[in-house]
Amino acid sequence: MSSQFDFKNKNVVVVGGTSGINQGVAECFARAGARVAVASRSEEKVTATVELLEKAGAQAQGFCCDVRDAEALEKGLKGVHEAWGDIDVLISGAAGNFPALVDGLSSNGFKAVVDIDLVGTFHVMKAAYPLLRKPGASIVNISAPQAFLPMVAQAHVCSAKAGVDMITRCLALEWGPEGIRINSVVPGPIEETEGMKRLAPTPEFIEKARESVPLKRLGKKQDIGNTCLFLASEQASYINGTVIPVDGGWSLGGASELSNQLGEMFKQLTKAGR
Ligand code: NAP
Ligand code: COA
Repeated sequence: MSSQFDFKNKNVVVVGGTSGINQGVAECFARAGARVAVASRSEEKVTATVELLEKAGAQAQGFCCDVRDAEALEKGLKGVHEAWGDIDVLISGAAGNFPALVDGLSSNGFKAVVDIDLVGTFHVMKAAYPLLRKPGASIVNISAPQAFLPMVAQAHVCSAKAGVDMITRCLALEWGPEGIRINSVVPGPIEETEGMKRLAPTPEFIEKARESVPLKRLGKKQDIGNTCLFLASEQASYINGTVIPVDGGWSLGGASELSNQLGEMFKQLTKAGR
């Protein structure tokens, strides 16, 4: 499938781009003509994604790293920069999620999610900064509705993603004067993803999720990819420091309603497991 956007000769890095939504975003940039690099922990997933992007016609590369390891991330990003030059587009979307009530969540469990989502985002921003095109670079952080909607069994994710959106806003102030734009995209419930599997684990809950979206459909990876393409394009050159839900209107009410039902289910499961 071709693209309405033209990212020929642009260097795009998608951290956490080896599965799900972020991989879909990487594919969108590949189809728009960009050179695309991806990074995540699993060598197998990195290799498979590089092959996928090459099949889509892109020049592609990848590196393995855990976003909790600032040095490994820095080394990987420097490698991409040495090969291709300044980074035009940076997508940061590595994240971890599991449903857990605070009563059943250890300090390390809370910390694992905060370290991946929030500290990981900080590491990505910090390591990429000297390698970004100035002026001209565009950064998109992949956030979640948990950033602004409290949800049962999601205290760790809510805390972490709220921080991600605040980093977005702070860096829009700090880096805007150098011509770097940064925005957050907030996906709604996106079909066939790990996030959905973990939070809507049965066909009944998937159907409830679909029903809870005003547009009465789940999102597609392409919906998030399209928004990232737009945000990284010239057409979005005055958009900076925003948090944009791409969720069919889900965060206007349906998300909270569904998360309350999920919360009840996890409470019952937790009680039954005791
Ligand atoms: P996913 O397929 O599990 O994607 C997560 C990606 O991040 C994978 O490439 C994973 O690869 C990488 N990753 C995870 N931990 C990492 C770490 N410590 N260091 C480096 N890379 C790491 O999940 P998804 O559901 O598509 O979610 C993608 C993004 O969308 C996340 O930011 C999530 O919060 C957000 N989101 C998803 C939904 C949804 O409906 N799915 C809704 C709202 C927001 P490795 O395993 O190889 O590390
Ligand atoms: N309920 C409660 N605690 C949990 C848990 C759950 N379902 N899953 C993990 N934890 C806790 C662990 O028990 C551990 O705490 P402890 O040391 O006190 O026992 C802590 O979280 C870290 O677990 P560990 O498995 O060592 O973490 P990891 O760094 O290997 O993996 C995760 C990170 C847990 C976030 C893992 O689910 C992951 O890699 N996720 C990436 C994919 C993903 O979540 N995709 C969806 C994105 S929306």
